[in-house]
Formats: sequence, structure tokens, C-alpha cells
Amino acid sequence: MTPRPLRLGVNIDHVATIRNARGGRHPDPVRAALLAAEAGADGITAHLREDRRHISDRDIERLAAEIRLPLNLEMAATPEMLQIALRHRPHAACLVPEKRTEVTTEGGLDAVGGAAHLARYVEELGAAGIRVSLFLDPEKAQLDAAKRLGAPVVELHTGAYCEAEGAAREAELARLVEAAAHAEAIGLECHAGHGLGFDTVGRVAAIPTIVELNIGHFLVGEAIFIGLDAAIRRMRALMDEARAGPARRA
Ligand code: PXP
Repeated sequence: MTPRPLRLGVNIDHVATIRNARGGRHPDPVRAALLAAEAGADGITAHLREDRRHISDRDIERLAAEIRLPLNLEMAATPEMLQIALRHRPHAACLVPEKRTEVTTEGGLDAVGGAAHLARYVEELGAAGIRVSLFLDPEKAQLDAAKRLGAPVVELHTGAYCEAEGAAREAELARLVEAAAHAEAIGLECHAGHGLGFDTVGRVAAIPTIVELNIGHFLVGEAIFIGLDAAIRRMRALMDEARAGPARRA
């Protein structure tokens, strides 16, 4: 069977992190998004955080106006972010948990315990024609809750897999495989992301029911050494190779 296509969403948050270290305009995340499109990205992802530590409101405005690729807006489920999403109408919105003190998104949303809070966001974004996804830890109960909420897409948090080593990493991979199969079984489109790099992307890309990966920090970091274009092209090639499977690679 031909494997399903696997999309690459390039997250450009940390281009803005570097820009913000000095203020000013360089490096410009919109320029990075345009370059990512040339290098083989299928979409651009940006997280407008409540504290605006990297992506700014103006960046979102410019991305919505200037890029051709679908824009995936990562956002906390807050009234302010909902208003911004409804104003710019990105192709997709990924609801993520957000804590002011965290360095990055530490875990998935609690779609089980937070269902009553999340319902309004899933509904209003969906009604505006924005494809909603929920960023979740790979747990069946969380996926079931996403389904009950009416979200069409889930994004599995791959951070624990990327950080683990040895047997623990195998166990985390098994959780991802099982959750991705469960997503398919209950009719959810399945994405994955967080912490992926050249050494971890292959086995996640090989999970056949995952159809999109969102990758940012590693690509921007690697760009320092080999350039953003080369980093994205290599990531794309590793994804495609893993997706093709061992038989086709041989
Ligand atoms: N997916 C989601 C929902 C995220 O919050 C992030 C981090 O912003 C990513 C993917 C990308 O993670 P990383 O920058 O570690 O590749």
C-alpha cells in the first residue's frame, strides 16, 4: 500500500526569539516562512504566547497576509487568543496549554478535565472554518475527550519520546504508536510534534496514521550550522525516507 503523505509544518517561533533578543527586525520570521516554503515545508506554525516572548501580534498579521502556505496558529484557550484567531482566520489552530513560567509547552492539554472550558473554543474556531487541533499527551482517554469535544484533529506531544533514552524511549514510542492508531480508529486526524530532531524524526514519521509533524526549535538551531534551507531539506528527506519504509528504501 502506498503510504499516506506526511506533511511538515515548520514552526518559526524561535526565529522571533533570536530577533527579540536584540529588538529590531532581524531575523524576520516571515522571511523564514517564505524560505521554508521553498525548502519543502507544507505549512507554517507559529505560537502567539500570552507573554509575546517570541511571535508578536504583528508577525501573525504579516504571516496571515504574506505567506501562501497554510498557517497553523498555536494558541492557548483564552478569550484574547480566540479573538485574534477569529480576526486572522488561519487555516488551522492548535490549542495548547500555556503557563507563564514554562520554558516551552511542557505537556499536552487536559481535554478530559478541561472539557467544559475547551468546548467553546473548539466550537467557535470550527464554526469560523478554522481546523482545530488539540495538543495532547498520547493517552487514549485524552483522544476520546477530543473526539467528544468535536475537534477533528489531535497533535500528539512527542517531547517525552524525544527526551527519553533506551528502554524508556521504546516505551514512549509504543505510547505514540498506540495513540496514533486509536486516533485513526475513532476518526481523528493525527499530527505530532515537539522536540523532534534529525535523530528522532524517523520513527515518528514511520507511524502510518500520523499525517503531519510540526517541528521548530531543532530546525532553527541547526540553521546556525548548516542554514535553514538545508536543515529543512534534510528533515524533509529523513521524514520521506522513514515514511517510505524499509522495503522501499532498499
Ligand atoms: N507542536 C506544538 C503544539 C508545540 O507547542 C510546539 C512548540 O511550540 C511544537 C509542535 C514544536 O516543537 P519544537 O519547537 O520543539 O520542534
